[in-house]
Amino acid sequence: MPVKFSNKKLLEVACGTGYWTQYIAETAQSIVAIDINKEVIEIAQKKKYPPGKVGFEIVDIYNLAAFNGLFEAAFGGFIWSHIPVEKLSDFIDVVHERVLKNGLIIFVDNKYVEGSSTPVFKTDDAGNTYQRRRLQDNTEHLVLKNFPKAEEISRLLSSRATDLEYIELENYWVIKYRKA
Ligand SMILES: C[S@@+](CC[C@H](N)C(=O)[O-])C[C@H]1O[C@@H](n2cnc3c(N)ncnc32)[C@H](O)[C@@H]1O
Repeated sequence: MPVKFSNKKLLEVACGTGYWTQYIAETAQSIVAIDINKEVIEIAQKKKYPPGKVGFEIVDIYNLAAFNGLFEAAFGGFIWSHIPVEKLSDFIDVVHERVLKNGLIIFVDNKYVEGSSTPVFKTDDAGNTYQRRRLQDNTEHLVLKNFPKAEEISRLLSSRATDLEYIELENYWVIKYRKA
């Protein structure tokens, strides 16, 4: 799937340790990469990027209004699945508020793959699913991790997007669309 972020001024939400940032920076004009977590931003800042192209900020997605101006594109890797279903509308709106009309937006996330994904431990009343994950210190935690159906994504984006493409890969889904 060719990704056309070339020469775009891009907002990356929930950039984490900068895994995607480093590849997008090869062709984007500039990237503002945000994450709520200082520790991951510090790791991201240590990666190599083309000079002057990438800026990192510790910002909550729900405080994006603090940014002046609009971006030509936005990207979010593996964040959609961690947004509670009841907050997805808000999540999409706050990202879209920072993107120009017709701007290119891409999200990528995990599919649930039987036998390969960490099993779903519980489902709450709203339909959110949780996995049990063990950390390095051996403590166990319930992590919200949703696996949305293509139809659910389409429904959420129906009035908010044009040219929506849902691309299903072996382990991942990708959505690529223009902000309406
Ligand atoms: C699964 S990681 C994905 C990181 C990165 N995009 C990647 O694919 O490697 C999810 C990231 O979302 C960040 N995050 C979660 N809630 C957030 C919020 N409200 N605002 C900004 N970042 C958030 C976490 O700190 C974490 O780095």
